[in-house]
Amino acid sequence: QRLGPENVMAFVAEPVVGATAGAVPPVDGYFKRIREICDANGILLILDEVMCGMGRTGTLFACEQDGVTADILAIAKGLGAGYQPIGAMLCSGKIYEAIENGSGFFQHGHTYIGHPTACAASLAVLRKLTGGLVDQVNPLGNMLDGALRDAFGQHPHIGDIRGRGLFRGMEIVEDRDTKAPFDPKRGVNKALKKAAFEAGLACYPMGGTIDGVRGDHILLAPPFIMTEAQIGEVVDKLAVAFKKEL
Ligand SMILES: Cc1ncc(COP(=O)(O)O)c(C=O)c1O
Repeated sequence: QRLGPENVMAFVAEPVVGATAGAVPPVDGYFKRIREICDANGILLILDEVMCGMGRTGTLFACEQDGVTADILAIAKGLGAGYQPIGAMLCSGKIYEAIENGSGFFQHGHTYIGHPTACAASLAVLRKLTGGLVDQVNPLGNMLDGALRDAFGQHPHIGDIRGRGLFRGMEIVEDRDTKAPFDPKRGVNKALKKAAFEAGLACYPMGGTIDGVRGDHILLAPPFIMTEAQIGEVVDKLAVAFKKEL
């Protein structure tokens, strides 16, 4: 039996892909087209903004920059900013009302659901974010991007520098022209993480970027209160790690 759009319940995506692909934003117009297809076929658009949301990419919701809204949206990490563990699922009024006017029962709980201390901390975080902090993200992110490009744009083993806001990824390649990856056995992303950490910089490495096995990248997601001087520090520490391992 051939499956059609009527067999599809939802389309799930990360607006800016985080850990698995290394800060990859969508091509222009991608999510507008996905939204159109979803709307035309009664398919829900579910966006996972656990990593890229809450200001990380320069707007409170990452999808704002793609000109779409989700039917269901997941947020977490930046919602508590590390002060409290908290995640949340947001949904459109239409979905909320369907449940409220239906059984009224949403069977999806955790032991500590609605934990008041976590909620209070995340409210304080949201007030900071919407009180001007998110506005710093794009100017700082553009500065960070510029500094990374100046320092490593021509590096023989950096295949791509990408991202949005203070969410930046660098692809590590064996050959800059062909973008051929290093042999996964070399574990270059892990070695870079270790060398960067020894130099005083915590970055998020991942391998298997291309096909689950090949491909290496590192992610940078610095605090929204970082200074211009600290951007220089990030670049200097990365340079030490690259010199040691690449
Ligand atoms: C994009 C994305 N979604 C979901 C998760 C899982 O989130 P949680 O640990 O809050 O379930 C992660 C964790 O890193 C993530 O990066």
